[in-house]
Amino acid sequence: MKVLVTGATGNTGRHVVDGLKDAGAAVRVLVRDPAKAPHGVEVVQGDITDPAAAAEGVDAVYLLWPFYTADGVETALESMKDKKIVYLSAMGAEDGGSSWGHVEKAVRNVTGDWTFLRVTGLATNTLGWVEQAETGTVRAPYGQAKRSLVHEKDVAEMAVKAFTEDHAGQTYLVTGPEALTQVRQAELIGHALGTPVRWEEQPIREAVEQLGAEFAAAALPYWASLVEDPEPVSLDVARVTGHPARPFEEWARERFS
Ligand SMILES: NC(=O)c1ccc[n+]([C@@H]2O[C@H](COP(=O)([O-])OP(=O)(O)OC[C@H]3O[C@@H](n4cnc5c(N)ncnc54)[C@H](OP(=O)(O)O)[C@@H]3O)[C@@H](O)[C@H]2O)c1
Repeated sequence: MKVLVTGATGNTGRHVVDGLKDAGAAVRVLVRDPAKAPHGVEVVQGDITDPAAAAEGVDAVYLLWPFYTADGVETALESMKDKKIVYLSAMGAEDGGSSWGHVEKAVRNVTGDWTFLRVTGLATNTLGWVEQAETGTVRAPYGQAKRSLVHEKDVAEMAVKAFTEDHAGQTYLVTGPEALTQVRQAELIGHALGTPVRWEEQPIREAVEQLGAEFAAAALPYWASLVEDPEPVSLDVARVTGHPARPFEEWARERFS
């Protein structure tokens, strides 16, 4: 089997490449900058909005759509007709109206052989706090929001299983093993760094300025909702990979110890 991996320089894609190589699959990557491409794979330079050359002759695609909107996705997917597609989606696809929902629909329109990995949140999202954590204080909004952040290696393992076993037509909810408050996540980053970290609640107006209006408009109401209504914890990682999802603490230790 030959698999095209998009986002191969990113959080999950790099591990998907490694996992597929270990499984004996031939791997091609689509990258904007070949200097950043992983070693030992076929490299095609290009943009995900125009993947025809990269998709030529492959059997399967690990698909990222790294944009806020689904504009242009139908055109991009024309070159992936009837191929196996494993799409890194988000829990937000559930309601159908989000960009992830639109991308899922576009994928279903070009192939029956799809698997959707709907992530709640990646542990790597917290990397944005690390510089602050090193000073001893993380200042951010909604410290009591509870998130079930998932290790990027678990997402990648799910993807590799989707390519090497039969998971066609399956939608998985991909989460960590528990929902932790953001305050607790910051503390665990502190443990891994070897320095105590305290949380300072950031005023919303300041957060909007820092995050930018477009991202803040989507993210802040969602984080606010997670104070009363934590992100769900799914057993799909355990069911598909055969081991429990890696805890956030393990992710932090791997990154910072
Ligand atoms: N972060 C989360 O919590 C979360 C939750 C649910 C779903 N997701 C989905 O996961 C995706 C990946 O998120 P991430 O935060 O982990 O990012 P990431 O995979 O670490 O980074 C994005 C990747 O996409 C590549 N890329 C960006 N624009 C491209 C373009 N125009 N053409 C080709 N490649 C391009 C980047 O390559 P370069 O090296 O060229 O920049 C990089 O490899 C998101 O787009 C989102 O849809 C994320």
